[in-house]
Amino acid sequence: MAKNQTTYGLRELKKILVIGSGGRENSIAWALSKNTSIEQIYVCPGNGGTANFDKCSCLRPTSQDEKTIIFECQRLQINLVIIGPELPLAEGLANKMREAGLTVFGPCKEGAQLEASKDWAKKLMIENNIPTAKYWTTCSKEDALKILDKFNQPLVIKADGLAAGKGVTVCETIEESKGAINEVFSGKFGSAGDKVILEEKIEGPEVSIFALSDGEKLIVLPPAQDHKRLLDGDKGPNTGGMGAYAPAPLINEKDLQDLTELILMPTLEGLKRKKIKYIGVIYAGLMLTASGPKVIEFNCRFGDPECQALMPLMGEEFASVLFACARGELEKAPILSFKDSCSACVVAASKGYPEKPQKGDQINIHPESNSALQVFHAGTTIDQFDNIITSGGRVLSVVAQGESFDKAFELAYGRLKQINYDGMHFRKDIGYQIRNILT
Ligand code: AMP
Ligand code: GLY
Repeated sequence: MAKNQTTYGLRELKKILVIGSGGRENSIAWALSKNTSIEQIYVCPGNGGTANFDKCSCLRPTSQDEKTIIFECQRLQINLVIIGPELPLAEGLANKMREAGLTVFGPCKEGAQLEASKDWAKKLMIENNIPTAKYWTTCSKEDALKILDKFNQPLVIKADGLAAGKGVTVCETIEESKGAINEVFSGKFGSAGDKVILEEKIEGPEVSIFALSDGEKLIVLPPAQDHKRLLDGDKGPNTGGMGAYAPAPLINEKDLQDLTELILMPTLEGLKRKKIKYIGVIYAGLMLTASGPKVIEFNCRFGDPECQALMPLMGEEFASVLFACARGELEKAPILSFKDSCSACVVAASKGYPEKPQKGDQINIHPESNSALQVFHAGTTIDQFDNIITSGGRVLSVVAQGESFDKAFELAYGRLKQINYDGMHFRKDIGYQIRNILT
């Protein structure tokens, strides 16, 4: 490969801003900090672990409104902005930043509908022959109940809009589906539930696939598996995600290539046909059913905690590749390499998560220096005495790499034993699908 290609953009790419405060943004900043040409990485607002990494610091302007953040980007001469969470993307932060002349990795408001409106995403899938479960969309409770009556089987009930991962109810019985319809139309999800999707219930193992897109082309990342339920054995309520691993061995390289052609490329083509230049992550959550893979959701950003498992696998070209995507010239970027390793991530949550997370508990972490281990912070902050304290539901992601998933999880769980805070809890069985659990 020509030298100018391996060093693409690095002469201009010195200062990066990552928007967000979670484990995802902490791990992205860490991955970027590995690139020796980058001088400074700001995370806005960041968390109690942001400054643990070389060249990384929190950016906390007096106000978090768009204008102030854009002004800060200009003042600090930020060369690349990476927007982590879905909400600012759905609200059009990327549009406003681009209008202000900034270079942004993250889709425009129109593209973010892939995640922000399930109905919009479903239509895009149908228009582009992307396999997905059968569905009905309605804005009326009476209609919804009629559809349920006619279909005469339990349905999955989904609020159309963003509901912080809580807008989906998978029902076992028709009675439960009725209850979920009543609930979604009760206003529980605010305007996200004005429109409702009723979906055929499908079955099979779940896996997530990801592509980085520059609006024209895409590159595919290793697949990952999330663990949405709070408790071991996939029991308990849904959460933002309690652990992940990558690359998910459930799909091999050939499968991934097939899924790229069946799902990721048609999604990008569909977006292009709508005149949307989609710059960012296309995340497809899949269910591998007996009748083939089907998309159950799209996200318009990296998953959290899938991102934390993925970042340690990224080759050093990662920063250049994101920059090339943001500039719409992926063809000029170096080929993104992936480390040949198994990456395991376990999330430690706070007492009361997900219902009512307790805040303000002091976190004790014994120092450890092992390049195959990372502790990414999410709901943490630093108090006036320089103690690290909990400040949210998902507190830390402990991530480890090894030549096998057994080794990677052993390392991650070993590290968790060196961390404690009041009410700390985590799943003991992350990766149960692919490892030999000895306990
Ligand atoms: P979502 O918030 O769209 O990711 O959905 C949350 C979870 O609900 C998914 O991870 C699936 O386990 C489940 N789910 C969503 N749609 C369906 C469906 N059509 N059939 C069965 N399970 C589903
Ligand atoms: N872990 C799933 C998500 O980020 O939505």
